[in-house]
Amino acid sequence: MADALKIGIAGLGTVGASLAKILVERRDMLTTTCGRPIEIVAVTARTKGRDRGVDLSAAEWFDDPAAMARDATIDVFVELMGGAGDPALAAVKAALSRGVHVVTANKALLAAHGVELAAIAEKNGCILNYEAAVAGGIPVIKALRESLTGNTISRVYGIMNGTCNYILTKMEKEGLSFEACLKEAQRLGYAEADPAFDIEGNDTAHKLSILTTLAFGTKIAADDIYLEGITNISIDDIRAAADLGYRIKLLGVAQRTDTGVEQRVHPTMVPLDSVIAQVDGVTNAVAIESDILGELLMVGPGAGGNATASAVLGDIADIAKSRPGAQTVPALGRPAAALAPYKRAQIRKHHGGYFIRLSVEDRTGVFASIAKHMAENGISLESIVQRAQSTAESTDPKTIILVTHATMEDSVRKAVASIKAEGYLVGEPQVIRIERPKTA
Ligand SMILES: NC(=O)c1ccc[n+]([C@@H]2O[C@H](COP(=O)([O-])OP(=O)(O)OC[C@H]3O[C@@H](n4cnc5c(N)ncnc54)[C@H](OP(=O)(O)O)[C@@H]3O)[C@@H](O)[C@H]2O)c1
Repeated sequence: MADALKIGIAGLGTVGASLAKILVERRDMLTTTCGRPIEIVAVTARTKGRDRGVDLSAAEWFDDPAAMARDATIDVFVELMGGAGDPALAAVKAALSRGVHVVTANKALLAAHGVELAAIAEKNGCILNYEAAVAGGIPVIKALRESLTGNTISRVYGIMNGTCNYILTKMEKEGLSFEACLKEAQRLGYAEADPAFDIEGNDTAHKLSILTTLAFGTKIAADDIYLEGITNISIDDIRAAADLGYRIKLLGVAQRTDTGVEQRVHPTMVPLDSVIAQVDGVTNAVAIESDILGELLMVGPGAGGNATASAVLGDIADIAKSRPGAQTVPALGRPAAALAPYKRAQIRKHHGGYFIRLSVEDRTGVFASIAKHMAENGISLESIVQRAQSTAESTDPKTIILVTHATMEDSVRKAVASIKAEGYLVGEPQVIRIERPKTA
């Protein structure tokens, strides 16, 4: 039997402790599958001596992750601390620079430094695996990086943040406000005390930037993403969407267009009868559309200790099974030097359907005026609905909902701006993009 694969784990929190437990409990099974044992020989975390629910006394303890990466006798450095900067960055660089393979679940680190780290890995002939960094347990990195080689990908999109999907699902199912659902998500541990990173879409953006690179061969451009969170989605939007045959999801979408690659994260209407619309609660889903395979949709747990550790374990097992000296898969799907600069497509040139909800004063001529502004901007309407019919005596605002056929975003913005200028709107208009799966 080959020598044991020696690993060092940096970070023994939710994911690190789950991974350590699985490695200890399934040692024999993994030895048979990988053809060699996997041994935890070094560990580091912030607090020494904390009970991690697993006996790690045989592993050498390091106070400093970078020192462990530099000095421990390990084949693989497993980074499960998180954060885009040090100590994760310094430690991963130190490991790769001395030819030690790296497995990480850290999307923030990859979004900020992925290209640089991939280049260091290549230079030193080592593997950089990060399956758990996007959509937790769903094997989307492997699908894009290896399984779909030779396909030309046209679009990748998905639900990649369980917190947002939980909130939107609960709002719809229980008719509760965004704020009430966020509080419940925090109580259940699905949302952080400071939820901004999730609900403003930044977490999805980090993950999307990695998928864009794998799908389109462009450099990671996490700061170049059109971003809208879910904080201004109201129960009225959710009800109106349902009435019209749609459901609202926070999607990350990367799409090849004539003017560049679109990267956008925003609340999105998806047809109620599509598979992605059925993805509820904290579950994640990623769809990939390509020319040879067609549409691939993967649904599964996007977070949690065990689900994430499962992906990390798969990455470690791949290394255990690899032949020493064999050519490694480039971390970002192609050599780092072959990644093209990212060319951002203008969001105003986005072409798609739109849902527009307008609250208007109850006076004659408004309906006709709205239809006129749409027509003047060349927008063809799939439907136009007036809700909450007021009585003859009532002057309460009315709600008008429009769903457009595929059109240019610039036209929608111009039409909405000219409607606003008419002065009959009550409050801000709501505009939500519609995304249609290739096949429902
Ligand atoms: N949790 C998930 O469901 C999930 C899903 C997908 C990806 N991920 C990614 O997995 C990584 C780990 O997440 P997690 O949820 O396991 O985080 P966590 O529970 O907060 O654990 C972080 C671990 O890193 C250690 N650590 C933090 N700063 C350190 C430092 N300066 N030096 C040494 N150790 C340090 C902590 O030590 P102490 O325990 O001593 O404080 C802790 O053990 C992150 O990159 C995260 O984005 C997590």
